[in-house]
Amino acid sequence: MIAKIIFLIGLVLIGGLPSAAENQQRVLIAYFIWAENTEIIDRTRAVREANTHVFSMENGNGVDEVTTASVLPPGNTARLAGWIQQAAGGDLYSITVKDKYSCYWDEILNRASDEKARDARPELSGHIDLSDYDVIFLGFPTWWYTIPMPVAAFVENQEFEGKTVIPFVSHGTSGVARTIQDLKKLLPRSVKIENEIGVYRSGTADAKRDIDSWLEVLGF
Ligand SMILES: Cc1cc2nc3c(=O)[nH]c(=O)nc-3n(C[C@H](O)[C@H](O)[C@H](O)COP(=O)(O)O)c2cc1C
Repeated sequence: MIAKIIFLIGLVLIGGLPSAAENQQRVLIAYFIWAENTEIIDRTRAVREANTHVFSMENGNGVDEVTTASVLPPGNTARLAGWIQQAAGGDLYSITVKDKYSCYWDEILNRASDEKARDARPELSGHIDLSDYDVIFLGFPTWWYTIPMPVAAFVENQEFEGKTVIPFVSHGTSGVARTIQDLKKLLPRSVKIENEIGVYRSGTADAKRDIDSWLEVLGF
């Protein structure tokens, strides 16, 4: 932490760090989450099943309905997206699929596993014109050690040529895993990819400060 502060002060002193005010880039914060890609049929069952999983993975650490039952809005990734917007400005965009995911843990796990195995590209229900933006923060949860397949569909459907992409990832015990390397393979060579931030799901509530420090280093 102390080393990070000294590094930041050094950067400011040599004038190498643009302030958020100086950063005139047009920012989009695009993210994909389960909660905005499902319909809740039985809320009690959906929350219970999601939390039972997290409880078993993490011995109950940090389990409460808000931070862990990603089936309910806002979900972890969207909370990170909100903090990025507070600091960096820009527009929020939720990536959504036509065929929604189940609200039940085992069912979404199975479908996501199948989509990964088939390297599927689920049909998206929206489109956004990226020509209005220079920088795209791209957020998603780790799914089966990689990016959710709708994120792959988003990347391939849009014109990313010449943009800067800054990934942010919410994850459980496996961390960001292969997400970033798999994302890089899908983006055109002309894209500048900045260092990502990965946030462990049970640390989401306390992650705002880490987000702010990460953004500061990136010049926002
Ligand atoms: C289908 C599915 C697959 C997942 N696979 C992984 C995984 O491979 N590694 C991991 O650390 N977490 C995995 N998770 C957990 C999520 O990454 C984690 O709970 C994240 O915080 C969810 O973010 P959200 O609230 O924005 O949806 C998975 C969750 C789901 C629903």
